[in-house]
Amino acid sequence: MKTPFISFLLFCCIQLTAAQELGLIPYPNKISMETGELIYKEVISFSLPSHLTLEPASIISQAKGYDIKLIVQKKGGAIKFKKIKNLADEAYQLTINKKGITIGYGNRSGAFYALQTLNQLIRKNGEDYIIPYVSISDQPAFHWRAYMLDESRHFQGIKTVKTLLDEMARLKMNIFHWHLVDDPGWRIEIDKYPKLTSIGSKKDFSNRDMSTDEWTKKFPGNYYYTKDEIRDIIAYAEARCITIIPEIEMPGHASASILAYPELGTLSKSKGIGIWGDIYDISDPKVEMFIQDVLTEVIDLFPSRIIHIGGDEVPHSHWENTSSVADFMKSNHLPTAKDLQIWFINRISKFLQSKGCTMMGWNEITGDNVHGETTENKSEKLADGTVVHFWDGDASLVNKSIKRGYKVVNSNRFFTYLDYSYETTSMEKSYSFSPVPEGLSEKEQKNIWGLGCQMWGEYTPTAERVFYMTFPRIAAHAETGWTISENKNYDRFLKALPNFKQVWARTIPLATDF
Ligand code: ACM
Repeated sequence: MKTPFISFLLFCCIQLTAAQELGLIPYPNKISMETGELIYKEVISFSLPSHLTLEPASIISQAKGYDIKLIVQKKGGAIKFKKIKNLADEAYQLTINKKGITIGYGNRSGAFYALQTLNQLIRKNGEDYIIPYVSISDQPAFHWRAYMLDESRHFQGIKTVKTLLDEMARLKMNIFHWHLVDDPGWRIEIDKYPKLTSIGSKKDFSNRDMSTDEWTKKFPGNYYYTKDEIRDIIAYAEARCITIIPEIEMPGHASASILAYPELGTLSKSKGIGIWGDIYDISDPKVEMFIQDVLTEVIDLFPSRIIHIGGDEVPHSHWENTSSVADFMKSNHLPTAKDLQIWFINRISKFLQSKGCTMMGWNEITGDNVHGETTENKSEKLADGTVVHFWDGDASLVNKSIKRGYKVVNSNRFFTYLDYSYETTSMEKSYSFSPVPEGLSEKEQKNIWGLGCQMWGEYTPTAERVFYMTFPRIAAHAETGWTISENKNYDRFLKALPNFKQVWARTIPLATDF
């Protein structure tokens, strides 16, 4: 005969196994199962509380994963929504039992994520749709769960971006980091500098001139986003509880804008045309004016109060070898090119602060030894309050930035770069990533905001290729961002993936091979 304790353990094991087989990604942080299920036919109708400003159409019906229709009506319906005081942002409670479906939420993101989980729980059984009895109390491990798309190297366009936003929402990712500016192309309309797009958007990574007949026939339209198009995408993201963080690269990765306005560059200024790989001549006040003008339009356009300024991979030799810049450094007591870079971006930080914004940049902006270089910054220190986006260098640099008081988003390239092949960065390796390194106190750990995964665009000329590299690894990063490390389990995650692959086969049919 089993003792009550053994029976209890057995019950817990059965419950856990059942919960693990629900196929949820990201896995909820607290979940318990009961016996039973709700059965629906073709439709689940529900009404949203009037103060809950969710655009209903975007919630589930557009998620397209199942045939069942989730219809929003004016009153009543199958789901009870309850606002819960003091529930953390993005947290939710979802209870499904014989009384029906109840969603507790603190803010609109919480309600939205509860609906996403509900959507994942629905299964088809013959003609019926069933939802198992379950009780979930859930909130994310990190508040920064980002996907980055590089559209400078290859422009993808609205349709692809919206598809990616849909899939991010399904996975409860909340930051779309938009890499709109880099050497090959400038992809955002700026009213004050029309040549940025009339000249700067015409090429891609393979240096093709896309304004030729051959290309315009193949890909008609612009290779940049107008402001109206960006507003449309911002609204689409907003309806899915996703914030867009725009990235405007400086002072390097600036060839596209220097091609349009050669006077902004170092080498291009003296030689007259935009030279590939050139960087801004930041000793020239014209450059700071230009950047302030661009950022002013960017800040007016995007609701995000965090602006990414890039800051990575600046070939400092261009400054060191330009006599006017070297003179400027001497007279301003800036002993190294790193100090010059920090001096400049601190001025940009001040400007952003004056507009109520916070600066974020790749971790070269700290002045640390990121790529094995021998000099570090001497006189200048990166502005307080900056968000350091770690991507390269020894992982101990994360701790170093945290100890100096910065916030960090961890995008360690060996785990989170989606342009790396599946042989280099396998699914298992992607899943194993932890954004929080050892050696930080509990308080310090809170300054690690989360993680990003990055779809760099050098070798992804088509949407098919973007999807191939993104899916399914994005799901691993979504789970790392949401599920606390104690609750992560790679085997369970792998078992849940087929549910997603089934959905993706319908929502991103271009991605034929996951
Ligand atoms: C980077 O990959 N250069 C941030």
